[in-house]
Amino acid sequence: EQINKGHYEHYMQKEIHEQPESLTTTMRGRLIRRGSSKSKSVLLGGLKDHLKTIRRSRRIVFIGCGTSYNAALAARPFLEELSGIPVTMEIASDLLDRQGPIYREDTAVFVSQSGETADTLLALQYALDNGALCVGITNTVGSAIARKTHCGVHINAGAEIGVASTKAYTSQIVVMAMLALAIGGDTISSQARREAIVDGLYDLPNKVREVLKLDQEMKDLAQLLIAEQSLLVFGRSYNYATALEGALKVKEVALMHSEGILAGEMKHGPLALVDENLPIVVIATRDACFSKQQSVIQQLHARKGRLIVMCSNGDAASVCPGESCKIIEVPQVEDCLQPVINVVPLQLLAYHLTVLRGFNVDQPRNLAKSVTTQ
Ligand code: AGP
Repeated sequence: EQINKGHYEHYMQKEIHEQPESLTTTMRGRLIRRGSSKSKSVLLGGLKDHLKTIRRSRRIVFIGCGTSYNAALAARPFLEELSGIPVTMEIASDLLDRQGPIYREDTAVFVSQSGETADTLLALQYALDNGALCVGITNTVGSAIARKTHCGVHINAGAEIGVASTKAYTSQIVVMAMLALAIGGDTISSQARREAIVDGLYDLPNKVREVLKLDQEMKDLAQLLIAEQSLLVFGRSYNYATALEGALKVKEVALMHSEGILAGEMKHGPLALVDENLPIVVIATRDACFSKQQSVIQQLHARKGRLIVMCSNGDAASVCPGESCKIIEVPQVEDCLQPVINVVPLQLLAYHLTVLRGFNVDQPRNLAKSVTTQ
């Protein structure tokens, strides 16, 4: 039953819309609000015997490909914040190409929806050979990565059929938020933050339900963009990953060139592309970098950039530089969970663009769901 399309036309569409439920399943039995003191924490059974070792690691290395890599990138800032351990990122194929350093004192976290991706699997063997503690975050019980890692967490997002990963992405971020809470110490100074994240996680499925109401708006936007050659997506901090992931969705299913750009790099090259024709999505939801994104919007506007700005509900006037600017307003959540919300309109945009352009949504040309060759 889980793998029929129900009343949806495509698996990708179904998987985007079932995210409130998949996120609920991902968190089921893992969030704890205890007793009258309302002490809040998480319980990840698959990690409990290894948490001490992880906390003593010299660094945590995230390893994955494609969307799974992007999910880890989204999680990196709050894992660093809550654990105090340096977190580095590795695209699996690049780690293998470089034979990059992996140490016995490292915790290597392998993120993979399928658990069978060849590059990630080979990187896992490489990390095992180098003596690292290996943790798997997969959606597939019994997969090679789940079997070969020392410990791990299943994301329990349910079967994902569309080649474009959607619900697995948001569940991966949520698992890594729980991982950060589990690894992070229970210091008094971080207590309020940890409790806010746990509360934010409880409320996340409702907020995703809310953002899914942008479906028609994203369809209208797709109609406007249908004949474009290219789409840029600017993000930073928590939402740099959202920019990369939004662009990946657009290119893999809508077959439109799209690039996720770190907004802080704008002046170091991408600004040269800006003119009155090229559409640019700027992610400017509220977080510590909000004023920097306001300034990016101003600079793009000054060069006549064709702007589509994603902002927190009620913030349109603070981000909109002129009448030609399109606005996507999304619900605001705890800053580190915002990537789960912000990716949804971009998933919807990619989906509608694909349908309107007449391409195969669930099976884009040249791509496979699970890349089992190098
Ligand atoms: C996602 O939309 C892509 N199809 C692709 O980037 C995918 O995320 C990548 O191949 C990794 O797959 P995995 O998560 O199964 O390891």
